[in-house]
This record gives sequence, C-alpha cells and structure tokens, in this order.
Amino acid sequence: MRILHVPPERKPLAISVSGKGGTGKTTFTALLLKTLIENTDKTILVVDADPAANLPDALGVKVELTVGDVVEELKDRTERGEAISLPPQLFEMYVQETMIETERFDLIVMGRTESKGCYCYVNSVLRQIMQTLAKNYDIVLIDCEAGLEHIQRRVDENIDILIVMTDGSKMGLHTAKNIVELARRMGYKMSLVGIVGNFSASMDKLMDLAAKINAEVLGVLPYDENVVKFAREGRSLLELPSDSPAYVTVKRIAKSIGLI
Ligand SMILES: Nc1ncnc2c1ncn2[C@@H]1O[C@H](COP(=O)(O)OP(=O)(O)O)[C@@H](O)[C@H]1O
Ligand SMILES: [Mg+2]
Repeated sequence: MRILHVPPERKPLAISVSGKGGTGKTTFTALLLKTLIENTDKTILVVDADPAANLPDALGVKVELTVGDVVEELKDRTERGEAISLPPQLFEMYVQETMIETERFDLIVMGRTESKGCYCYVNSVLRQIMQTLAKNYDIVLIDCEAGLEHIQRRVDENIDILIVMTDGSKMGLHTAKNIVELARRMGYKMSLVGIVGNFSASMDKLMDLAAKINAEVLGVLPYDENVVKFAREGRSLLELPSDSPAYVTVKRIAKSIGLI
C-alpha cells in the first residue's frame, strides 16, 4: 500500500470518523484509539459526537454527564433568566466538567439534548471545543454523528484526516460519496481523505468510489467474531486481543498513513 503522509507537526492532529449509521464508525474509532495508545505516547482527546453516544461503552468508560446535559441545564437557567449569556471561559469550564479523564486519553461525550432542534447547539459547542480545548492535545479523534450534519455545520472543518466508513451497500457508498463531496464543497482542507470498508465491502466498489471523489482506499475491516463477542458482553474494545482481524487491519491502516 502506498504510504500517505500526514504532516506530523500539526497540533492537534484531528481525525474524524464519519459515515452512515451502522458502518462501524464507533468500532473503528475504538480500535484506532487502541492502536494509538499501544504504539505512541501521544496525548489524545476522544470526542463522541454521535447523539446515540455508544463510544463510552465500546471503551468501557462510564459516563455520568454529557455536554448535552449541560446545555440542557444552561438552557433551563436561561429560560428562568439566570444565565442569559455565559462568558466563554465559564462555558469551557462547564464543558470541561463533563470530561472523563483516563490514564491514556480524555473523553468528551456530546450526547443529546431533550429539546427538539437543539442538537445544532451541541454541534456549535463542539466547534468551540475544537478551537479551544482540543489545542491541549497531540491528537483529537472524533466519532461523528451518522450522515452529513456535522459537515453541514462545519463542526469538524479543521480536521486533517477524514476517515469515511462504508459498508458495500448502495446506501453506504452513496453516503460516503456525499460526505466527501460536501466536505470539499464546504472548503474543508483535509490532508487525507481515507475510505475504510467494513463487513467485507468489495474492494472494486471502494476503488471505484475513491476514484470518483479523489480519496484513498485505506483498507477493509474483516468481519471479526471478537468484536461481536465483546459488544455482546459489554467489554471494552481496548482489550480486544491484539491478533483480532479487525484490530490488525486498523493497526496496518494507522501505519500506512504515518500515525504510528
Ligand atoms: N468488523 C466487524 N466485525 C464484526 N462486527 C462488527 C464489525 N464492525 C462493526 N461491527 C458491529 O456492527 C455494529 C455497528 O458497528 P458500530 O461501530 O457501532 O457502527 P456505527 O458507529 O457506524 O453506527 C456493532 O454491533 C459492532 O459491534
Ligand atoms: Mg456509533
């Protein structure tokens, strides 16, 4: 596989994992985190930007409070006239309060808000995090919301690496194409757009897609019994055996793009 170069001097190096729902975004994010933890000493901020918030489970982390919860609370207070507008530092403090710190990475879970139409506000908070808190880390890894919304709202516009997960289905390929095309139209300046197939997506179809959108096919995750077993048992993917096929593939991908 061709070696792709990611500028090592970028700080933070922001990696966003996107794609249709169910294509393996959370699995890939968890396995890439495992790769980075086991093969580098970089400081890492992980952001679960999917309102369904299943990344903490995949990482074996318990979450008490999400950014969405904080937004809700602030909104209540705003409605009661107590917190019309918060200074940015205070806001950052509130967000930081929800952060989960582990030995090797910090995790922010965006979560969802109860109020309808309010997720755009959570997204704007995430934009802010990317411009402030994220600067304290070497790498920021974002498990994105399914679909195109995060691109439409420019949540991750400063990312360096856009990973697009896709299964081989027509919809999966279509969503992948739309994500990349929209990101380019919105002026995203990624140094790498990488397509990762899952569930044995056909290499031919992926190469075809990549040619159309000027992206690279980084690899295809094989079906992995261990991943299924760990998900069923609620175990952390960070503890997946190192010879698990999906992990071996993610590690090889990380190596091919210069992350490890
Ligand atoms: N390579 C794989 N082998 C086996 N199961 C997988 C694989 N990739 C993902 N899964 C399973 O498929 C489901 C969807 O994956 P997930 O990572 O949650 O997708 P997304 O975050 O895109 O919605 C999960 O139950 C996950 O355990
Ligand atoms: Mg997910």
